[in-house]
This record gives sequence, C-alpha cells and structure tokens, in this order.
Amino acid sequence: MSAPTEASIARLTVRKLHPALGAEVRGIDMRRPLDAATARELQDIWMEHLVLVFPGQHVTDAEHVAFTRYFGEPEIFHQKIIRSERVKEIFRVSNVNEDGVLMPPDHPVAQQLSLAQFWHTDSSYREIPCTGALLHGVEVSRTGGETQFTNMYLVYDALSEDLKRQIEGRKAQHDFGHMHTQANLKPLTEEEKAAMPPVWQPMVRKHPVTGRKALYISPIYNDAVEGMTPDDSRRLIVELTRIAADPRFVYTHRWETDDVLMWDNRCTMHQVTPFDPRERRVMHRTTIMGQDRVMAA
Ligand code: OGA
Ligand code: MN
Repeated sequence: MSAPTEASIARLTVRKLHPALGAEVRGIDMRRPLDAATARELQDIWMEHLVLVFPGQHVTDAEHVAFTRYFGEPEIFHQKIIRSERVKEIFRVSNVNEDGVLMPPDHPVAQQLSLAQFWHTDSSYREIPCTGALLHGVEVSRTGGETQFTNMYLVYDALSEDLKRQIEGRKAQHDFGHMHTQANLKPLTEEEKAAMPPVWQPMVRKHPVTGRKALYISPIYNDAVEGMTPDDSRRLIVELTRIAADPRFVYTHRWETDDVLMWDNRCTMHQVTPFDPRERRVMHRTTIMGQDRVMAA
C-alpha cells in the first residue's frame, strides 16, 4: 500500500449552516498537529463560509492556542481582568472566575462582556484590528447565550445606492472607551485612554484575502462618523446595524459543549443573545492578530 499523500491525511466534511454564512466542519482533531495541505484547505473553507463550527473539540487551552497559530499570531489581550492568568493568549468570555466562582451580574467583567449582546466586530478600535477569533464552548448556557453572526459582504451589497454613497470613502471612529459609556462601567482612566486612543476606520473595507467589499462598522465602539453631526452619525450607524441584523444575513449558533467556532472579523459582525446571569457560561477565546491596517475599498 502506498503512503497517503499529504492532501489525503484529513478528510473534511463541510456542511453549510445558513444560506448567508456558516459551515460545520468535521474531520479535524484540534489536539493533533495539522498537515500543511489541510491547513490550506481550512483557510479556503474559512474564506468561503466566514464562520466555521468544529463540533466535539475537547481541547486544552494550550491545544486551542496551538491550533490558532496555523492562522496567525495569537493576541495577548490588553486587559488583565479579561485574559487568563494561566494561558495568557486566552481571552475569557466567562461569568465564572478562574477559581470557578460565578460572578455577580454587576461585576465589571460581567458588565463589560454583556456589551457583546450588541452587534460588533472585535478589536476594531485598534489601529490594526484582529483578523479573527476562535471561541471554545467550555460550559455552554441553555437559557440563551446563542451567538449570532452576520455576513457584512452581503450586507454591503444589499445597501441602497443612497446609503452606499453616504459611506463610500467615509470613516467611522472606533473607540474602546465608548463601550464603557454604555454599560455600568467605570469610564477609562486618562492613562487607559492614552493607551487606546480612538481610531478612524473606513466604513467600506476591502478584504485582504478575498478582495471583496464589506461594510465595516462596530456599533458598540462607533461614536462618530466623519463629516457628520453626532445625531446624524448615530442615526446612520443605527440604520446600518438594522440592515445587518436582517435574518437573511444572520446565522445563529446554539452551542454544544466543546464546539469551537472560528470567525473572520474582517467581514462579519457578531453578538450573543441574552442569558440568565445565574447560569454559568464559560467560553475561551483566542484572537488572531491582524497584520495590516484596514484597507479602504
Ligand atoms: C467574543 C464575543 C460572544 C459570545 O468572544 O468576541 O463577542 O457568544 N462572544 O460569547
Ligand atoms: Mn466579540
């Protein structure tokens, strides 16, 4: 018998989950190294479907981080209260602290994470935002806590000519501190503000891999649109968000334990549906660092 060729080592099964985006991928075991051909194949599947669901991945944090490295450099998050003390590349999307104790809903971490209940794309407030993220369902909720994703290529394509004209060549401001004005959170200190100054990002971006145009907004961080009054800026962001939330563009993921979801932050937004804060929800995220500034389309 001849040895299997590199390309045939992993047999992937891909099942589309929604007409707009999302695919379930079977045939991957994240605890094992990935051969180069499979890594390339996954990258292509990811670019095609935007959000991949890998069921049944009983991974340690270290294995999760190692798998992330096939797609780029894992980010170490700037806030100590969010990142894991054990594995620094892990961003804890969790209402349970690392000693296993449930946090009260008014805990600053729970408050900050609750803003993920509004549409956003991760780290758009950085000059170089992240490429994507991988989220591992360690303890999943049953009272809600579903994660929704919207396809921002399709959203852009669906905009009226009038809206396209309003955003073409325009930038929106993305401010990490803006998020803190919306929850019951302490405003950023002057030092924190200086470390994370607001950035202006194009509202229509060109995806560096696919070359396609996508709407690029992140409503929890957007506090201004170039050349518009605060009221008009807010109205425009609200209107664009309403279109992005149309069910025809949205896949909703109901979590099972040990699902790992991988999404592209350059062409999607996401949000989590509300859940009972007395229910434990422990999700571990790695974040793939971006390499370049956002390209205007
Ligand atoms: C995130 C996020 C949503 C969720 O990890 O970036 O927004 O379902 N999570 O927890
Ligand atoms: Mn997020």
